[in-house]
Amino acid sequence: MCGIVGFTSRSASAVGPLVSGLRRLEYRGYDSAGVALECDEGIKVFKQTGKVAELDALLKKELPEEERGKFTVGIAHTRWATHGLPTTVNAHPHIADGGSLALVHNGIVENYAALRSGLEKHGVKFVSQTDTEVLAHLVATFDKGDLLAATCEALKRVEGTYGIALISAKHPGEMIVARKGSPLVIGVGEKDIVVASDVSAIVAYTRQVIYLKDGDVARITPDGVDIHSLDFSPVSREVQEVDWDIGAIEKGGYEHFMLKEIFEQPDALRNTIRGRLDAGEGTAILSGLNLRPRDLAAVRRLVIIGCGTSLHAGMVGKYLFETLADIPASAEQAAEFRYCNPIVGPDDWVIALSQSGETADTLAAVRESNRKGALVSGLCNVVGSTIAREAGRGVYLHAGPEISVASTKAFTAQVTALLMTALKLGRTRRLSLEEGVKLVAEIERIPDLISEVLKKSDDIAKIAEKYAKADDMFFIGRGILYPAALEGALKIKEVAYVHAEGYQAAELKHGPIALLGEETPVVALLSDIAGKEKTLGNVQECRARRAPVIGIVTEGDAAAAAAVNDAITLPRTSAPIAPIVTAVALQLLAYHVARLRGCEIDQPRNLAKSVTVE
Ligand code: M6R
Repeated sequence: MCGIVGFTSRSASAVGPLVSGLRRLEYRGYDSAGVALECDEGIKVFKQTGKVAELDALLKKELPEEERGKFTVGIAHTRWATHGLPTTVNAHPHIADGGSLALVHNGIVENYAALRSGLEKHGVKFVSQTDTEVLAHLVATFDKGDLLAATCEALKRVEGTYGIALISAKHPGEMIVARKGSPLVIGVGEKDIVVASDVSAIVAYTRQVIYLKDGDVARITPDGVDIHSLDFSPVSREVQEVDWDIGAIEKGGYEHFMLKEIFEQPDALRNTIRGRLDAGEGTAILSGLNLRPRDLAAVRRLVIIGCGTSLHAGMVGKYLFETLADIPASAEQAAEFRYCNPIVGPDDWVIALSQSGETADTLAAVRESNRKGALVSGLCNVVGSTIAREAGRGVYLHAGPEISVASTKAFTAQVTALLMTALKLGRTRRLSLEEGVKLVAEIERIPDLISEVLKKSDDIAKIAEKYAKADDMFFIGRGILYPAALEGALKIKEVAYVHAEGYQAAELKHGPIALLGEETPVVALLSDIAGKEKTLGNVQECRARRAPVIGIVTEGDAAAAAAVNDAITLPRTSAPIAPIVTAVALQLLAYHVARLRGCEIDQPRNLAKSVTVE
């Protein structure tokens, strides 16, 4: 989604840091970009549709190197269009006050139409179709000499969500930032201060950061950061250290972030697991949940919420909780859950899954669950994210930054974290010590099992060559492998633009089988766990309709391998681990197909990394 960068320094030019900050945010998805720079003569704005490279080219043309030093303060933005087409006029920054104030915004101003007509009545002329332009004019209207006070006054009138950064020629050297429902982080360097909507645009400068909270408004100058609440009272926020460095967000020799992140999974999952298993007691130690055995014993039902890949991980979680903890569980798409007036209360445990921790629908579902008195916890990757904070308790994935829009390591880390949670819950119920100890040993093996799957990358690439031209594909799985089928279909849709459907293996013959033919490959998930024989029957049904079948089969399972046209073999695992190793193989299949089709793998068309609008 949209990205914000701000920079202020006593001596360094803001131009380079702003552009490289925008580049770091490119992975989030956007369709235009812009920069506003302040110097003694006022504010200069440069905007461009398309990629940051095109904005950079514009800056190179219009702003000679020798002039750049005079701009030591600036703000920048990548826009993913919501209100109005992706045009240069609609791109941020938006200006007000005759060009002396510039503002960038992430989020949505829900009452923008009412605010806009109020301002128009007072003679304000709008040039764009955006909700953001309203904010720029509103702040300018309230500016009576204190830019922070003016911002507070303006924001008090705003309904919706925002992360904003603004500068004004009337207040040289100052940058104001604020957040409500849209993240903003301040990086406090030794000489410079960098602001961004995502910490990945900051770590090149500093790992010392302040995570703003909702309702915070900050005045930033090269001398420091001054944070207030909307009612103008000072608040204090601690400076925290980011626990990863720039290497984590660079490609490190891989052609794409997606491939890098697929290959990072053994290490990522080691971090997810580290220190969280108790082999002696056969249980998991998840202190972030902050739940006593009696709290766990009181839970009557689990509701797992998420969107996209996180939803699929949650669907695996449903099977894990029901089989290991003997507790009814459901996985719900967060927006559907939120708007169906869900029946949840104090006996229910709602687990919100989100890699980014910023997905608007999941956040809204968390709020709804909190309002209804459910026990709520978050399972997020991004530390300090809104969902992690609002859930109040949870389990961090510690999978490291995920830059590729297509989520990979977050899925396997989420399933692993859910597995540990189910183990912990199971051990407070009927899961025996012996079963718990066995499961702990299996969880400890997950990173090595994934390494085994990664060794198959070249074999999978060869299979991908045979099917890369297919326009339609089916993914079928049964039981705990059904969500993996959905995830496999989602991955290939997103990155390879292949129309793909994930189905319960048994459901295919109830309609979709009409679409099968020799041009429609079926990927069958055939790990050697309960239900495999039935899925093999479904494979026969597909082949009888001439559909070629790619089987994801267990090593040594000759019968399954013989039943399919092409087999990808995986190490033998128990059922709870099967979706994890299967997902890794399907990630590689999607990646190789996308590469062969020449797709823009890390930033697929129309997609954004974190969906912060409902
Ligand atoms: O950050 P989240 O996990 O909440 O994101 C949820 C979905 O938007 C995300 O998983 C999306 O489906 C990915 N593009 C999947 O690869």
